[in-house]
Amino acid sequence: MERIPQFYPISLKLLLEKEKPCPFDLYVQRSEDKFTKIYNKDDILDVERFQNYYDNKKVFSVYIIQEAYEQYKTIVDQAFIHLKIMTENSKPQEIMPHLEKIVDCLVLDIVGQGNIEDKVVYKAGSFVKTCVSILAQDSNQLAKLIRSFNNYDYCFKHSLIVSIMSIVVAKAAKVKNTKVLEIIALGGFLHDIALITDEFEKENTLKPQKMSDSIREHPTRSAEILMGFPDIPSEVIQIVAQHHEMPNGSGYPKGLYLNAIYYPARIVAIADRFSFLITPRENHNPMKGFEAIVEMMQVKGAYDSQILVEFARLLNFKV
Ligand SMILES: [Fe+2]
Ligand SMILES: [Fe+2]
Repeated sequence: MERIPQFYPISLKLLLEKEKPCPFDLYVQRSEDKFTKIYNKDDILDVERFQNYYDNKKVFSVYIIQEAYEQYKTIVDQAFIHLKIMTENSKPQEIMPHLEKIVDCLVLDIVGQGNIEDKVVYKAGSFVKTCVSILAQDSNQLAKLIRSFNNYDYCFKHSLIVSIMSIVVAKAAKVKNTKVLEIIALGGFLHDIALITDEFEKENTLKPQKMSDSIREHPTRSAEILMGFPDIPSEVIQIVAQHHEMPNGSGYPKGLYLNAIYYPARIVAIADRFSFLITPRENHNPMKGFEAIVEMMQVKGAYDSQILVEFARLLNFKV
C-alpha cells in the first residue's frame, strides 16, 4: 500500500527570490487532505506567480513532504544567521525584506507544530533583537513591518504587534538598556502564548464556560509553558505572568497593586491594550491611536499613568 506523505506548511515568502531553483517538491493544499504538486525539486521558481498567489489569491504558505523538512529547517536556520549578520552590518531599509521573511518563518514554525520548541524561542529572540536595533535607528521601518503582518491570524498578528509596541512604550518610559529592551520585546511576543496553543485544542476540548476561565488563567498558563524553556530569562516569564495585572488592583490573575507589579510588565500591559484597540478584529473597527489612549486613561489606575502619559507624548498626543 502506498504510504501517504505528511505535509508541512512552509513560508512562501522565504522562497520568493529571483531565479532560484526550487530546493524541494512543492505542494498546495486543495482541501483538508488533498495536496497537489505545483513544483518539482530543481525547477526554477516563477517569482511572479508566487507573488500573485501571495497578494491576490491570499495563499501564504506552500507545503513540503516530511522527508524534505530537515532540509527546509536548514534553510530557515541559515536565514536567521543571515538576519543576525544583517542586523549588525546593514541599514534598516535593507534589513526589512529579510525581516519580513523571518517573521513568516517564525509564525509558520508555531502554526506548523502547534507548540513551541527551543529553536522557536531562539528565533523569537533574533526577531526582537533586530526590532530593537531597527527602532534605535529608524522607527518608520517598524511601522511598515507592522503593516506587513496583515495576512496573519489575529493571535499571531497581536503577538508580533505587541512585541514591537512594547519596545516603543519602553522607549517612551526612557528604558535605554538594549538587553532590557530585548527582554521586554520578548515578553511582548510571548505574552499570550497559552492562547495560541489553545487555538489548536479549541475545537474539541474547550467549552464556552471553560473558555472564559481559560482567558483568566492565560497569564499563569503562558508563564508555565515558558518555564519549560531554560533559555527564557526569568524576567520574561515575570512579564508574561503579570501582563494583565492593573495598578488599581483590579487586574488578574493575582490582583496586584502598582508597585507590586513588575515594571516591564506594566510596559507590556500598555502595549498589549493599545495594540488590541488599534487592530481590526471581527465585528470591531479599530480605534485611532489617540482614541485608544483616551480610553486607556479613562479608567483610573488601569495602567501605569506615568508610562501612559510618556507613551502618549511620544506619539505626539497632547494629554
Ligand atoms: Fe493576555
Ligand atoms: Fe494580549
